[in-house]
Amino acid sequence: MTQPVLRSIIVGLGCALPKRIVSNADLEKFLETSDAWIVQRTGIRQRHIAGEDERTSSLATQAARAALADAGVSAADIDLIIVATTTPDYTFPAVATQVQADLGNAAGVAFDLQAVCSGFVFALATADKFLASGSHRRALVIGADTLSRILDWQDRATCVLFGDGAGAIVLEAREGKGTSADRGVLTTHLRSDGRFRDKLYADGGPSSTGTSGRVRMQGREVFRLAVTMISDVVEAAFAATGTTPEDLDWFVPHQANSRIIDASAEKLAIAPRKVVKTVDLHGNTTAASIPLALNVARDDGRIKAGDLVMIEAMGGGFTWGAALIRW
Ligand code: UT7
Repeated sequence: MTQPVLRSIIVGLGCALPKRIVSNADLEKFLETSDAWIVQRTGIRQRHIAGEDERTSSLATQAARAALADAGVSAADIDLIIVATTTPDYTFPAVATQVQADLGNAAGVAFDLQAVCSGFVFALATADKFLASGSHRRALVIGADTLSRILDWQDRATCVLFGDGAGAIVLEAREGKGTSADRGVLTTHLRSDGRFRDKLYADGGPSSTGTSGRVRMQGREVFRLAVTMISDVVEAAFAATGTTPEDLDWFVPHQANSRIIDASAEKLAIAPRKVVKTVDLHGNTTAASIPLALNVARDDGRIKAGDLVMIEAMGGGFTWGAALIRW
């Protein structure tokens, strides 16, 4: 017998991208790289890079406003704001409190969460627990990053991969029947393993160097481990809900590398036509990549109400996670 439960329904979605687009050809002007190498190894063709007047908080607020308008609710209706970011405007206070102030929201609680590229999945899972417990009713979950600020622009093995952006959803608690036919977040699965922390990291921070540091990565090692880790949590999400890859309408992975996405989909027996890819347009936007991809696939008519959508991500830490959502 299934019991009625509180489900977190996605009622609004919005995003924000910096104005400036940087193509692979633009990178060729100052780096020993080529459009052909970047496209072949990653699938990336361009990325948006934040200008001096654009910050993680301004992109996050813009995405949040778009999501609120999409949901048809006002900022005053929100009682929980979680911003997933690795590139806050300041060491403190949190970007989330800045967004809260910019939106004019004085109720509830706002905080940041840091799980690098897995940040959006971790923030969604956290908000879902708040809503499922009945303690909060309507949440803004935002993934926002300006990783361009902490890239080593001399390191061609990392700087070509990343872009900036923000994406936001409004989650609302509504009663469901407790079955996988319910709308909303059906299950979430999070993992981390700190033994891999030196595979992908920033080489500075407030308590070590007193600087933000720059992104360092053992790309081949990350690549090698990514597919296995991603598959583990996605399979756990299918098992927990009694669903299969055939039931899935859309697979919306973290957008780091087209080859990782293809290899993961193949290992999981998810048909290529169900895979949403936006890595060509945005590059790897860290915590923003999944909501940006959801936004593209919703706006072009692919993702519709009732569709079964799997999101997943893997990033520094290592952290990794998946969530199965009925739209
Ligand atoms: O969210 C998680 C974030 N990170 C990731 O998902 C990244 C995972 N890793 C990857 O996506 C891939 O490992 C990369 C795209 C970073 C690199 O692709 P790869 O096929 O693993 O290449 P590699 O690192 O083995 O390098 C192959 C060659 C090297 O030259 P040699 O030693 O063979 O002469 C590199 O120096 O490619 C060279 N190379 C480049 N060449 C042109 C590395 N970066 C570039 C570049 N342009 N930008």
